[in-house]
Amino acid sequence: MGQPTPAVEPIAVALPAMQALASRLWSPETRHHPGQLAWSYAYGLPEVLHHGPAAVFHRDDAVVAWAWAESDDWMEICVDPAALDGGDAAIEWFLDRAGEVAVRTMVLDTEEHVIALLDRAGFLVEDGPWFTHHLLDLAELGLLEVEGYTFRHVEHGEAAARAACHRDAWSATSVVTTGAYERLMSTPPYRTDLDWVALDAAGRMVASACVWLDTATGVALVEPVGCLPEHRGRGLAGAVSAAALRAARDVGATTGLVCPRGDDGYPVPMRLYQRLGFQPGPRTITLVRPTARA
Ligand SMILES: CC(C)(COP(=O)(O)OP(=O)(O)OC[C@H]1O[C@@H](n2cnc3c(N)ncnc32)[C@H](O)[C@@H]1OP(=O)(O)O)[C@@H](O)C(=O)NCCC(=O)NCCS
Repeated sequence: MGQPTPAVEPIAVALPAMQALASRLWSPETRHHPGQLAWSYAYGLPEVLHHGPAAVFHRDDAVVAWAWAESDDWMEICVDPAALDGGDAAIEWFLDRAGEVAVRTMVLDTEEHVIALLDRAGFLVEDGPWFTHHLLDLAELGLLEVEGYTFRHVEHGEAAARAACHRDAWSATSVVTTGAYERLMSTPPYRTDLDWVALDAAGRMVASACVWLDTATGVALVEPVGCLPEHRGRGLAGAVSAAALRAARDVGATTGLVCPRGDDGYPVPMRLYQRLGFQPGPRTITLVRPTARA
């Protein structure tokens, strides 16, 4: 077997290959899902997100590893356990590009092969907020209703209202603009039939949940969920998430996935997903390669 060969590309070009590797390797013990990558790529406009390129490593026409400069000091990394040399090369590419700045990355605590590569490259575990992957057997998901509200999926052409619903739930400074949402809607595996909203009696979108289905694995990722402050505490976030996941089940999804904060700093989302039946699995770990300056 030869050395994996890299292709360094803008993220817009590299994304499908990165998603393909994430899908091929997916298990409850891996971090990346094609939908999470799509969201990270497209939740804002390129001139706002300032994403760097990705280095995608192939062997015999198969993608075996990649590293993405989500920013100059933040690396996303995905490595086939059967191609550790590709993982080494991906990390080396990122560190060469980063120069002397401290760089960070995040893995699942179950991704031991990636952790070993990062350890060898000088990364250290860092304290801080973390996320717990949660899984749900979709056969167990019931229908939730909230009196006074209706639920439906969005349509193409509704990017403005859908983006406003997200922004009003998250923060006024959110970068999810109409233009960004239009771009998101054209990023696979996005599909309108899995992007759900709750409407109040006046027909305003007041809560939302976007689900991303990887048809190869049957895993439906919920990302993101939001509810306008004045409508919170009525079960809307749970109900709209359940509606979107049931729609995903109707088109072949078997497993729900969601990745809320697991530390005590932001406990509400985890509680909301566990009420739907999601079970906690592995957690994330942040690692830092301190500045290379002596
Ligand atoms: C998190 C969020 C989506 C919850 O929306 P919501 O419609 O109020 O949620 P629900 O009514 O379905 O409540 C779910 C659970 O969280 C609880 N909860 C909701 N808001 C809470 C608060 N401020 N403090 C404590 N508990 C709260 C509810 O009581 C419920 O728990 P219970 O069923 O055990 O009573 C909403 O606060 C939000 O949009 N926040 C900003 C965006 C965000 O963090 N999204 C989630 C991460 S993807």
